[in-house]
Amino acid sequence: MDIKVNMKSKNRVNRIIEIILVMSLILTIVAPVTAASRTGLESSLIKEWDSKVDRAQCADFLYPSHNPSIVTGEKVYKANCARCHGASPAKDPEVISYMRAQSPEKQFERICGHKHQMDKALTIDERWDSLLYMRTNILGYYPTNSQEASEMDALFGGNCAICHGTRGQGDGNLHKMLKPQPANFNMFKRLYTRSDEKLFNEVSYGIPWTAMPAWKDRHDFDRQEDFNPELIWKLVRYVRSFAYSQEMDRLDIGRQRLEDYKKKIGESN
Ligand code: HEC
Ligand code: HEC
Repeated sequence: MDIKVNMKSKNRVNRIIEIILVMSLILTIVAPVTAASRTGLESSLIKEWDSKVDRAQCADFLYPSHNPSIVTGEKVYKANCARCHGASPAKDPEVISYMRAQSPEKQFERICGHKHQMDKALTIDERWDSLLYMRTNILGYYPTNSQEASEMDALFGGNCAICHGTRGQGDGNLHKMLKPQPANFNMFKRLYTRSDEKLFNEVSYGIPWTAMPAWKDRHDFDRQEDFNPELIWKLVRYVRSFAYSQEMDRLDIGRQRLEDYKKKIGESN
């Protein structure tokens, strides 16, 4: 009887070990496959592209020399890019979510020098202008008119400016008390390394161990608006628009912004 019980439990242990072995075998075979299909679109684009890109061409990587102009970008894009990439904004949700996951910096690296099948090498600024126009074209223009602009100014002014400053330069009233300091949305080096998706998540869920709050599901009582995903995407585009040049903007608000920005740069020089 004793022996039988022992044998039984031994069998059971063997069985469990067997199952674990088989499971881990299945996992090692299946895991890379699922990882590949998860990033299917991305990796196929990048693989195709990597075979064409000579990384040495990116040796001239530089940030823009001035706030990129979406207006110039549109001209450069229409003359050099539209014949392959299309002129109208993409409606395909897959393209939109792919673009949201790419940082401007990574995409700039993918269109280096002559290798991007362009007829002539574009200047660094022309490349940035056209790339940012392309992104704005796909991800949506925002704000498109002065009414939307002032609505967003009010939303940002009422909820974010206390830390980030009304012009998004990280110089709101509270900034001196905070560590790390609120992000300056005019800093190419910071914002261009982030994808829109990352910014969306940061605004939605906040940034741990910093003063940046989570906004998802909050309510703005002054404007009677919920921070739903649609509004948070608008905020992401708004935050990006701080670093665009005045023409993109919104009229006098933009011009004022640029003047302030120039003054600030002048002061720090
Ligand atoms: C002759 C065709 C052609 C022209 C002209 C062209 N592209 Fe491309 N572009 C491609 C191809 C092909 C790829 C590879 C990936 C793909 O299939 O989307 C690509 C990829 C890209 C990517 C990378 C997308 C990613 O994976 O993140 C960007 C950004 C881009 N192009 C921007 C531009 C801009 C900006 C211009 C104009 C200044 C331009 N392209 C001109 C054909 C072209
Ligand atoms: C109480 C202060 C505070 C308020 C209010 C605030 N933020 Fe922030 N925010 C911060 C701080 C601090 C950081 C930088 C955290 C870090 O360095 O990691 C930050 C970072 C960010 C980032 C990430 C930028 C990056 O470089 O990755 C975004 C986007 C952002 N804030 C947007 C907003 C928006 C939109 C609002 C209003 C709806 C807002 N913030 C309100 C303090 C604040």
